[in-house]
Amino acid sequence: MKIFKSKSDLKIYLAEEKKKGNRIGFVPTMGALHEGHLSLVEKAIRKTDTTVVSIFVNPTQFDNKEDLDKYPKTFENDVALLESVNCDVLFYPSVDEIYDENVIAEKFDFDGLEHQMEGKFRDGHFDGVGTIVKALFEIVEPDVAYFGKKDFQQLQIIKKLVEKYNIPVKIKGMPIFREKDGLAMSSRNARLTKEHREAAPFIHKILKKARKKTGTKNAKEIIEWVENQFKQHPLLELEYFTIAEEKTLISAEKFEPKKRYRAFIAVFAGKIRLIDNIRFKNN
Ligand code: PAJ
Repeated sequence: MKIFKSKSDLKIYLAEEKKKGNRIGFVPTMGALHEGHLSLVEKAIRKTDTTVVSIFVNPTQFDNKEDLDKYPKTFENDVALLESVNCDVLFYPSVDEIYDENVIAEKFDFDGLEHQMEGKFRDGHFDGVGTIVKALFEIVEPDVAYFGKKDFQQLQIIKKLVEKYNIPVKIKGMPIFREKDGLAMSSRNARLTKEHREAAPFIHKILKKARKKTGTKNAKEIIEWVENQFKQHPLLELEYFTIAEEKTLISAEKFEPKKRYRAFIAVFAGKIRLIDNIRFKNN
């Protein structure tokens, strides 16, 4: 695997690959890689000719300094994992390589997608994500880029970014990878205490139970039920649970035919904030 820290060196290398007719697949990450990340990388490897993964803990998308400072860093292990799946290229830039002297985000209008859920609770988060993903797309110029549905709102926002700026890249959304006990894989899981780690599968359990209620209950009733389940939980604190239409991400109170819905959740397990979501069947 080739490792580049410099964007100009990476661009020169990828220009040669493109000249050979190779299609570029891209997986942006913040490192501390797990099987969820690797599933995206493996898909890129299967579907494109040259797979580029980036590892960059992007400061402008963090609204919480401690979360940024303590974000897990496991670079050597990440390199070994990427080599084990035969990834072609790793881009591993420094903050200076990406940002000028001002480490600030551009402001974006994602037609309201950015004001829902994560946007309400993480100030400026999607401006930071938009800034870095747009910059990375400009450097890598991928044909296809892969994103996980674990961050479903992010996926929808990236699709909007590409549409608004006419960026010639195909965006693929990939399934959520989970631990055996149902907890959605996340780099932040490594920061959970033992007791919070043991409690955390409750999140997915409740999502599945909530989904089962769609036949008999409306969205409002399901939301109340979920909120009550968390009120009774000694270790997990619910930040939000909402059911929203997949396209607009606007919260729904009733289910309408022909629309797709998804439930979204954010929970504090001690100091660690976990998010998850699940597709709802629409009856
Ligand atoms: P990060 O959290 O490292 O995730 C990188 C990619 O892996 C994202 O597309 C994310 O949705 C996907 N992913 C994470 N956990 C997953 C899981 N359990 N199953 C499937 N896919 C999963 O998301 C980011 O980084 C950043 O915001 C980034 C897009 C790199 C911009 O900085």
